[in-house]
Amino acid sequence: MLRLVLLTLCLRASANIHLAGVPPHVRDTSPAAPLTPRAAPNSSTARLCLSLEDAHPGKLAYPGQAVYDAAQESYYSANQRSVQPACLFTPTSVDDVSSFMRLLQECSRDGSSPVLFAVRSGGHALFTGAANIDGGVTVDMRQLNSVTLSSDGKTATIGAGAAFTDVYPQLDEHNVTVVGGRVTGIAAGGYVSGGGASLFGRSHGWSCDNVYAYHVVLANGEQRRVSSSVDRDLWLALKGGSNNFAIITAFELDAFAQGELWGGSVTYGLDVSNTSLSASSTLRGLADAYVDYMSPAGYDHNAEAQIILGFVGGAFVAQSSVFNVEPVAYPPSLAPFTDIDTIVEQNLFSGNVSHMVNTFSQTLPAEVALTYALVYSFSATDAAGYLDLFSIFYDGFEPIAATAGLQAQFLIQPQPVTNGTNAMRLAPDQRDVVMASVTAVYSNSSDRALVESTVDGVFQRQKASLSSQGKLLPFIYLNYADVSQDVFGSWGTGAREFLQNVSSKYDPLGVFQKQLVGGFKLF
Ligand SMILES: Cc1cc2nc3c(=O)[nH]c(=O)nc-3n(C[C@H](O)[C@H](O)[C@H](O)COP(=O)(O)OP(=O)(O)OC[C@H]3O[C@@H](n4cnc5c(N)ncnc54)[C@H](O)[C@@H]3O)c2cc1C
Ligand SMILES: *[C@@H]1O[C@H](CO)[C@@H](O)[C@H](O)[C@H]1NC(C)=O
Ligand SMILES: *[C@@H]1O[C@H](CO)[C@@H](O)[C@H](O)[C@H]1NC(C)=O
Ligand SMILES: *[C@@H]1O[C@H](CO)[C@@H](O)[C@H](O)[C@H]1NC(C)=O
Ligand SMILES: *[C@@H]1O[C@H](CO)[C@@H](O)[C@H](O)[C@H]1NC(C)=O
Ligand SMILES: *[C@@H]1O[C@H](CO)[C@@H](O)[C@H](O)[C@H]1NC(C)=O
Ligand SMILES: *[C@@H]1O[C@H](CO)[C@@H](O)[C@H](O)[C@H]1NC(C)=O
Ligand SMILES: *[C@@H]1O[C@H](CO)[C@@H](O)[C@H](O)[C@H]1NC(C)=O
Repeated sequence: MLRLVLLTLCLRASANIHLAGVPPHVRDTSPAAPLTPRAAPNSSTARLCLSLEDAHPGKLAYPGQAVYDAAQESYYSANQRSVQPACLFTPTSVDDVSSFMRLLQECSRDGSSPVLFAVRSGGHALFTGAANIDGGVTVDMRQLNSVTLSSDGKTATIGAGAAFTDVYPQLDEHNVTVVGGRVTGIAAGGYVSGGGASLFGRSHGWSCDNVYAYHVVLANGEQRRVSSSVDRDLWLALKGGSNNFAIITAFELDAFAQGELWGGSVTYGLDVSNTSLSASSTLRGLADAYVDYMSPAGYDHNAEAQIILGFVGGAFVAQSSVFNVEPVAYPPSLAPFTDIDTIVEQNLFSGNVSHMVNTFSQTLPAEVALTYALVYSFSATDAAGYLDLFSIFYDGFEPIAATAGLQAQFLIQPQPVTNGTNAMRLAPDQRDVVMASVTAVYSNSSDRALVESTVDGVFQRQKASLSSQGKLLPFIYLNYADVSQDVFGSWGTGAREFLQNVSSKYDPLGVFQKQLVGGFKLF
């Protein structure tokens, strides 16, 4: 009891307590480093930082301290790295997370303004402020990263802060895996709560379809395990509803048998000195390959195939990635991608999940500069339809080729085939949907308007093309969306209202709507 009282006490700002509370091992050795929160003295935010520091020695860091600076650098996009919280809290237990929620309320109560906070796990969401907050408190979940497999081997309980590239090796040892991310550093917290597209999207659906239970801390600090039988409405809402209801501390995920799989990446030659793009045998080959891959006759629930077109430093790039979750090389369903005769490089092999994911990750940058990305979904189209999307992408970016650090990407991949157990209201077993994303990376913030309007233009023209073919779908996938996109509004009648109802029930004060900054809001 005494402990609870102490933990929920919101301290008044006092330089003495503050400095005394900085443990030596996190204290920056540089004398110039200001060990103060980046917030007005005695503001509710400064008082929360101070209270956390006092209640949880060693778990609170300020600008200039090594822990804080390393966390800042670990975000994937420069958009996120440039956002500077007043202080950073790193819980190492579920009780720490409860204590955070209680102190947040306590410090917000008598202050003139409620404290704003952000929650981060892997830090891979791209847009500014997705999982970090200027002048508020950022909660870094990465120490909650344990992985345990149930004795029957069928359920893996994964800490929300765990990166899948750290999870897979632990599961590979037991010849099982979970539906998780494909790239180094993506963590369960954002990925699973926002959906989760994977190598197993056709065989196992979205990652969130596979969650048996969520371990959460509600706005009032209460800890709960929610499942299909306990708090079922919250369980469903968390399957795609992201950070709107609670801080998730762990996921109980379906673990399934998985040995080696086959696949990797393929790069094609692309001669565009002659600007007739649709005459390119590479692009025609890729369009035909995608038609076959998405066709009902060619449907293979073990096969994943993406087309990745790039425009980097003024040069066009065309790649695919292909995966067979069975350890069989060159399955017929993927042959159209590996038979294209303009292949210049391929790295295809059999390996365990961690080996496959680590190798695939190496084809992508480890972090990016400023970036902007938009996503949409459509029903599989014909070769002319895909070629039109390819041309719109290349034609759109060519005029801004000289933009500093420009890397543009157009990615298509099959939308996971869901069994419908989530909040997204997608038709179960629908197999013919493609997700497309248009992304640009650039280095000079002065180019923001130019780059964003180019991405917008390509996005609008591609959607118009699909719309004219009757192929455009309303669905917007949260984890690939920009914050400007109306994700919940795209999920169909009643989807947002259901999520709003769940929010009102489990977070009556609206802490996750008004005080949690970053992500997609319900109201
Ligand atoms: C290089 C790259 C590759 C990608 N590959 C894939 C892929 O293969 N498949 C796919 O589906 N997506 C992919 N994504 C998108 C990815 O799923 C999202 O960016 C996802 O949000 C990342 O989760 P995170 O925990 O790393 O992100 P963060 O940026 O830490 O968090 C993202 C959001 O989730 C919230 N959140 C995080 N942790 C918690 C928690 N514990 N409780 C409540 N809310 C929380 C945050 O507040 C934030 O709004 C990729 C992104 C990148 C940059
Ligand atoms: C700090 O803020 C609290 C509440 O907002 C107020 O009561 C107190 O007087 C302030 N202290 C100082 C030193 O300004
Ligand atoms: C997974 O594959 C990698 C690379 O081949 C290997 O080093 C590792 O030991 C494998 N893991 C297991 C559990 O076999
Ligand atoms: C995993 O599979 C390998 C290869 O089939 C086998 O040698 C090993 O014993 C299995 N490990 C477990 C824990 O089942
Ligand atoms: C969907 O799959 C999950 C995980 O296997 C399972 O818990 C759920 O019951 C399934 N839903 C339906 C409708 O089959
Ligand atoms: C460009 O392609 C067209 C049609 O494929 C061809 O007729 C023309 O000669 C090509 N031009 C150059 C410069 O290669
Ligand atoms: C960014 O662009 C602006 C405007 O064109 C230019 O003045 C500035 O020098 C550029 N910055 C860098 C670092 O190149
Ligand atoms: C939301 O709650 C209202 C009021 O209880 C109810 O009438 C409505 O049906 C609920 N909507 C959904 C989609 O659950």
